[in-house]
Amino acid sequence: MANGNDDRGFTQSPAELFDVSLVVNGVPRAARVPARRLLSDVLRHDLLLTGTHVGCEHGVCGACTVLVDGVAVRSCLMLAVTADGARVTTVEGLTRPDGTLSPVQQAFADCHGLQCGFCTPGFLTTITAALEENPQPSRAQAREIIGGNLCRCTGYQNIVKAVLRAAVLRAAVLRAAELRATEAGS
Ligand code: FES
Ligand code: FES
Repeated sequence: MANGNDDRGFTQSPAELFDVSLVVNGVPRAARVPARRLLSDVLRHDLLLTGTHVGCEHGVCGACTVLVDGVAVRSCLMLAVTADGARVTTVEGLTRPDGTLSPVQQAFADCHGLQCGFCTPGFLTTITAALEENPQPSRAQAREIIGGNLCRCTGYQNIVKAVLRAAVLRAAVLRAAELRATEAGS
């Protein structure tokens, strides 16, 4: 192709670009993207948040899962333009405000819920969202929670344990926060 013409002689116009504004991990971010650019590509390549992993790029493996307005979403299936205005949380944004690990992250460390770690960002975001909806899952529910995420290393047993441990740690964190709030108000 030369002079903006393709090999059939048709004139090629540059791809139309769209402004996308997101709040990613609490920070306002902007990108100018083609309509078909995936949210996963914007996060990884435009915003350099490479903690979000891309495995299948087909919606199957769950590695690319992020939270969009608190809901677990496969970022390889979402166009960035459709996320315009949303709050996005990636694995980089899961740590607590004081920099310590979130309950789900801590539980993975405690229970050896990861090996190579490729799948881990997707598990962490998925479980974080699920515990908001069901703070005390049974073992069967823990298995359901992770049913849409693939891991090729761990055999899943320690990930199930990590879901249950995360629920315990999360409850303790919430109880401590309530106690602090009560003490501050008294
Ligand atoms: S990379 Fe998105 S589901 Fe596999
Ligand atoms: S820890 Fe390797 S794919 Fe899950």
